Amino acid sequence: MDLFTLKDLERAGEILEIQWQYRASRALMVAHQLRIFEALRQSRSAEEIASLCGTSPGWTEKLLTVCCALGLVMREGDRFELTELGRALTLPESLRNIRGLLDHGENLWWFWTGLAEVVRTGKRDSAPKPPEPYHSMGHFHWIWAMNGIAANGPAQWLASNVDLSSRSRLLDVGGGPGTYSIALCQKNPYLSAVIWDLPETLEIAAQVVKGFQMEHRIALQEGDWNKDEFGEGYDCLLMSNILHGRGSHSEMKLKKALRALTPNGLLIVHDFLLHDDRSGPLPAALFYLMVGAYTIGEMIEVIEEAGFDQVSLIAYNEVRGAGIVTAVKPS
Ligand SMILES: C[S@@+](CC[C@H](N)C(=O)[O-])C[C@H]1O[C@@H](n2cnc3c(N)ncnc32)[C@H](O)[C@@H]1O
Repeated sequence: MDLFTLKDLERAGEILEIQWQYRASRALMVAHQLRIFEALRQSRSAEEIASLCGTSPGWTEKLLTVCCALGLVMREGDRFELTELGRALTLPESLRNIRGLLDHGENLWWFWTGLAEVVRTGKRDSAPKPPEPYHSMGHFHWIWAMNGIAANGPAQWLASNVDLSSRSRLLDVGGGPGTYSIALCQKNPYLSAVIWDLPETLEIAAQVVKGFQMEHRIALQEGDWNKDEFGEGYDCLLMSNILHGRGSHSEMKLKKALRALTPNGLLIVHDFLLHDDRSGPLPAALFYLMVGAYTIGEMIEVIEEAGFDQVSLIAYNEVRGAGIVTAVKPS
């Protein structure tokens, strides 16, 4: 057997680790589906939890052991209870819960299960359909998933990297649950925002905005970018996770964004971005495979082509494979 270099050994270990991770991912989704986390609001034995959830005591204890290893649950003797982190991430009353993300994960699971068929046929819908109710609740879970993601780091990261201290009117196009608008308004006391999105999405945004008590600063406006203009008179405009590479009608969206902004208005784009040589990072490459993504250079080019000036990457998160590009509408 040839000897690996230390670097190769390290990378091989990481690959083996990644290969295993779907097990943890599945255990987490199943614990959520079986309502195990709700049963752990108070200290209980595996038998009590199994009786509440209608599950097998032996297998429930095994699943709880994984939840402990994930740091979501703590064990004291034969009793289990959610940790603080577990409460924040799994209970419905927490504003940063990832329940939508776990349900959305169930939907995506079937795409990844059918990936060989998708790659073979070139047809995305050749992957199996998720079981009900996941299939028909796909949009609902997707939008709540966006809140779960944004509320656990990315929204704060965006707000700390973009200077909106001299701006007053933000348009958040395809703003989803509104989590980014909320973080930007919290950071900038003179800013108000409009979340512009489809009606079914705005129903969720209304709940999130209310949850953060930001109704006085954030308005909701229905719109469909395939038909409608974005409005006008905004001095800043956010496009977060809506420019996913070729095929996402970026040119059309960016031209509408240009018209909605006042002269010197600031465009903020936040999205998965591949390195220019397409070597990664892994989250961006995986998103490119599932949906689509630009490289950093391509994103800058498409924004310049739409008529913006001063286009530049102002922050990049290597771990998430996401970046922030800002640009200015010419005066
Ligand atoms: C990936 S989510 C991004 C949500 C949010 N900006 C974020 O980063 O978390 C894409 C958003 O685009 C919205 N959307 C999809 N099609 C749309 C359309 N035709 N017009 C307006 N919004 C649309 C969806 O409802 C969803 O909120």
